[in-house]
Amino acid sequence: MSQKVLLSGIQATGKLHFGNYFGAMKQNIDLANSGGYEAYIFIADYHALTTVKDKNALHESALEIAAAYIACELDLSKATLFRQSSVPEHTELAWVFNNVVTMPYLMRAHAFKDHEAKDKEVNLGLFDYPVLMAADILIYQADVVPVGADQKQHVEYARDIAGFYNRAWNVEQFKLPKDMILESVATIPGVDGTKMSKSKGNVISLFGTDEEVKKAVMGIVTDSARPEDKKNADENNIFNIHKHFLDEEGVATLRAKFENGGYGYKEAKEELLATIMKWREGKKEKFDELMNNQDKIVAILEVGGKKARTKAQETMSQVRGQIGLTK
Ligand code: TRP
Repeated sequence: MSQKVLLSGIQATGKLHFGNYFGAMKQNIDLANSGGYEAYIFIADYHALTTVKDKNALHESALEIAAAYIACELDLSKATLFRQSSVPEHTELAWVFNNVVTMPYLMRAHAFKDHEAKDKEVNLGLFDYPVLMAADILIYQADVVPVGADQKQHVEYARDIAGFYNRAWNVEQFKLPKDMILESVATIPGVDGTKMSKSKGNVISLFGTDEEVKKAVMGIVTDSARPEDKKNADENNIFNIHKHFLDEEGVATLRAKFENGGYGYKEAKEELLATIMKWREGKKEKFDELMNNQDKIVAILEVGGKKARTKAQETMSQVRGQIGLTK
């Protein structure tokens, strides 16, 4: 039996933080490195265009994501790492899908509704975001798409769109994968306790300077409990961030410190900071080295892009035949 196809994208917008890492990258790396999949991991730079209009920023963040994956030990012999824009067939397939997707259907998308609610003018790229994402997934015939809860609707859209296509042209081109969402993917809180997200300014940077990381950790919002007080670990931001770095035993030990009392917030933050700095050991140097040798990253991405494109072109050539673009 051939291996299952795993696919995941990450949007190229801005500096990476631990929400990106625990919410997506880590699962992708662990699954890909397990060797159990034919794995495709890409930087969604076409998607990023919906919001980013600064060419240097777009390029820089694409390279940063690649460098971060490599620094976090993604095994490039087991995963194909590439930029979405190296495979223009993604957009070609999205255009085909556009003709079987209706506007009312897309108007139900959470991301679209959120933007509308904020009275923002939505560009067509943003409106069409789920269709391009469906193309990303279906062009590789992905079985597993390890996304977090916030991307669940997008994956459901991909499944629907596979069906819309198959019915419109009366073919069995796209299978409707069942096990695409991994429920174990974590949502990590930011320093204010709400979901860590760049737009909220509550992030702890993955590979920023030591000072940036320290400032963010020391700024974690806490209540007014005194050091000697017993604390509810599950309601504590410091605990809820720190636990993601620890194994089961480590979590239990940390929980006990909070619950027994005598563990003040200053000490708790300092310990979290030490954990983060330890996590960064080696990785941060590797990341910086790559960012100082960007040609290396570009070369790696080019190799990945070629490999991914070969696979995408196979699907696209079948599609072209099915819809009457070729005979
Ligand atoms: N929308 C995803 C995010 O914001 C990024 C993404 C684009 C993606 N295409 C994808 C994720 C395909 C998984 C599969 O995180």
